[in-house]
Amino acid sequence: MKVDGKSLETIWLQEDVLHVIDQRALPHELSIVQLKTVEEAAIAIKEMWVRGAPLIGVTAAFGMYLATIEASHSNTPETYILQAARLLKAARPTAVNLEWAVDQQLEAISKKDDLSDKIAVSKAVALRLKKEDAEVCKQIGVHGLPLIEAISKAKNGKPVNILTHCNAGWLACVDWGTATSPIYQAFDQGINLHVWVDETRPRNQGARLTAWELGKHGIPHTVIADNTGGLLMQQGRVDLCIVGTDRTTRTGHVVNKIGTYLKALAAKDNNIPFYVALPSSTIDWDLADDFSTLPIEERNSEEVSYISGGTQNGTVQVRLTPKESNALNLAFDITPSRLVTALVTERGVCEASEIGLKLLFEKK
Ligand code: MRU
Repeated sequence: MKVDGKSLETIWLQEDVLHVIDQRALPHELSIVQLKTVEEAAIAIKEMWVRGAPLIGVTAAFGMYLATIEASHSNTPETYILQAARLLKAARPTAVNLEWAVDQQLEAISKKDDLSDKIAVSKAVALRLKKEDAEVCKQIGVHGLPLIEAISKAKNGKPVNILTHCNAGWLACVDWGTATSPIYQAFDQGINLHVWVDETRPRNQGARLTAWELGKHGIPHTVIADNTGGLLMQQGRVDLCIVGTDRTTRTGHVVNKIGTYLKALAAKDNNIPFYVALPSSTIDWDLADDFSTLPIEERNSEEVSYISGGTQNGTVQVRLTPKESNALNLAFDITPSRLVTALVTERGVCEASEIGLKLLFEKK
């Protein structure tokens, strides 16, 4: 997408150094950070310099490429590569795109005998996954656009009010975003719209990242505290909700940023469509209805007890809660498929169910 007139993606390779937008610094500073080793790629994922399911996957794919280069300095290159895969997979547990990308790399690498061929193939896989992610996200927008268009027509061109949670924008992917792709494409076609941006405590991906993205594209938006959405829905000020996901079961249950479930409940109660946009790389084909095996990330409780913001001296963190109070930081929740109006994928819009997904992705 364009930032101040210049085209920008979230990740690129330059002379075997991975460059990523450092999302910790946004919205106060657009800072690019270099990742030179697989260990640095794993840290960037774990500490959320990069985040969002699709971008986590693409970063891990490039991390595997860096690992194959590093393996040439090891006496046991095969073991080195397997250890790197384990390191990357352990960086964040919930986004299924992470293991999806690393497993594709392992499969391609294992088919080559010479290390130079392993290096070449893993570079090709990483570049392919990056390119495909941008294309797939664009297609999600193509399929999601008519949903917004229909509401716009029904409202005779009055602004379509869209509520989104967290950041499922281009910063979470390579380009376009998932939930934001239909929004960008609708806006670019001249549809009158406005986005309610959930701040998304505790890390405030909505307030910091989605608001920044939408602002750079000139899209009218308003940041709201997480608890505001329900009232806005009761007041008739939300026409549709659209969010992303980190893992969707093959039966259509949606794991996404903590707080998504509450928005889906409120949307159901108020008869408001609740859409989930996702690339097929986010579908967990092994998981049906048994949530006990579903990895929900628990992050450091300091993300809850502290809050950060920009000052003239850069980003600072201040304590929010009493020192004596415990804090719990569960990063994702599960929205049952019955609360999801439809899934918006690169192949089209479908029911959030096993049949719906099968009809679109028969081959898998
Ligand atoms: O913890 P995060 O910021 O990585 O969580 C991101 C989300 O929950 C997104 O909605 C999801 O990854 C989809 S991104 C296109």
